[in-house]
Amino acid sequence: MATATVSIAALAAHEGRTVRVRGWLYNRRASKKLQFLILRDGTGVVQGVLVRDEVEASVWEAAEALGQECSLEVEGLVRSDPRSPGGCEMGLTGLRLIGASEGYPISKKAHGPDFLLDHRHLWLRSRRPRAILKIRDEVIFGIRDWLHRRGFYCVDSPIFTPNACEGTTTLFETEYFGGTAYLSQSGQLYNEAAAMALGKVFCFGPAFRAEKSKTRRHLTEFWMVEPEVAFLDLDGTMDLIEAFVADLVARVLDRCATELKILERDTASLERVKAPFPRISYREASTLLEGKGTGFVAGGDFGAKDETVLSEGFDRPVFVHRFPSAIKAFYMKEDPEDSALSLSVDLLAPEGKGEIVGGGQREESLEVLEGRIEAHDLPREEFEWYLDLRRFGSVPHAGFGMGLERAVAWICGLEHLREAIPFPRMIHRLKP
Ligand code: 4AD
Ligand code: MG
Repeated sequence: MATATVSIAALAAHEGRTVRVRGWLYNRRASKKLQFLILRDGTGVVQGVLVRDEVEASVWEAAEALGQECSLEVEGLVRSDPRSPGGCEMGLTGLRLIGASEGYPISKKAHGPDFLLDHRHLWLRSRRPRAILKIRDEVIFGIRDWLHRRGFYCVDSPIFTPNACEGTTTLFETEYFGGTAYLSQSGQLYNEAAAMALGKVFCFGPAFRAEKSKTRRHLTEFWMVEPEVAFLDLDGTMDLIEAFVADLVARVLDRCATELKILERDTASLERVKAPFPRISYREASTLLEGKGTGFVAGGDFGAKDETVLSEGFDRPVFVHRFPSAIKAFYMKEDPEDSALSLSVDLLAPEGKGEIVGGGQREESLEVLEGRIEAHDLPREEFEWYLDLRRFGSVPHAGFGMGLERAVAWICGLEHLREAIPFPRMIHRLKP
């Protein structure tokens, strides 16, 4: 029978048999009589053991010449080894080099962040980035699964747009056949049109913002999931966000224990992420910030320090609702109880990880919205289609946007968003 080629994750099922594995050499340790080859293939990591007296000299010498991160195929006997992560190791009998690797730039020693980011295309192969990418994948799949099961349709929004959604200061402009297009800051406006067609919808794609502020929470290209629901109000939105976020965290705890351990994530704080989340108004939040020395100015938006102080008061994510209309986007519905406030909401993550969700109820009145577009100095003609949604069967509706990298950074316990995306884009980084 031909020797089977198997993935490392499947090795345990082949105990007692000789199989082949293909992958990359993660590390090699050697003594006079033994060589330990640590191999990874994306599904897992396995240790292959070579015994000098038991293999041909050519195999022993070939192994000695292997460089870190070369690709290779090995053959060997699978045997149980309770101490190893996958529960087994391989007694190697043969190996074949596929692609050589000499002078691999990333070593065991500590490298600075700039060096690692310059080598992001290789850094992805290291233990920590691999764990983060797996958790990111679980979150992405979890988002789609959760929404789909609850009757949301995925209706994606365009990336090239003629108008601004989240203010004109962070627009990326691009030439478009003699005219101008902007890269989407949010799919929300199109999502509102889709919600009038299908009731419960979401879009999930990249968003672009020319963020001039160089902070650890801002990328110029990030991913955002945006659910939008017809006949939903502000309280309903908070209920939705709460269930969504709590279930996503529970899913990662359930399915990514190995990765969370690699990241040394304190999971006790994630275990506490259960509904209900506290809900405080912007006014209450302002009072909490008084005398805290964060530099908060009443009526203004929260800075990173403010968000940290606010989140420290709670053991789980906290909602802040009803921000002043003056600091929110044009489409926010006015609070019927106080015309200076908007029916908006942010969700702040615990442990000072900042805002992960922004959303609220949308203005459904044509007249009010026309006034807002003028007040915000937005080009009216580019919003005529959006105003049509209020002309033809307007209904109360609401939704939110969750930044994927903000959520992943919080769940993984990362200090900086740049580690939560495969190839980060920031003011000073467009490469690799
Ligand atoms: O609060 P924001 O600006 O809300 C919107 O864009 C709404 N139109 C969403 C909606 O209601 N459909 O952005 C939503 C989320 C933030 O809470 C944050 O998680 C993330 O997007 N975000 C960023 N993530 C990384 N880098 C940036 N520069 C981000 N800007 C926003
Ligand atoms: Mg926001």
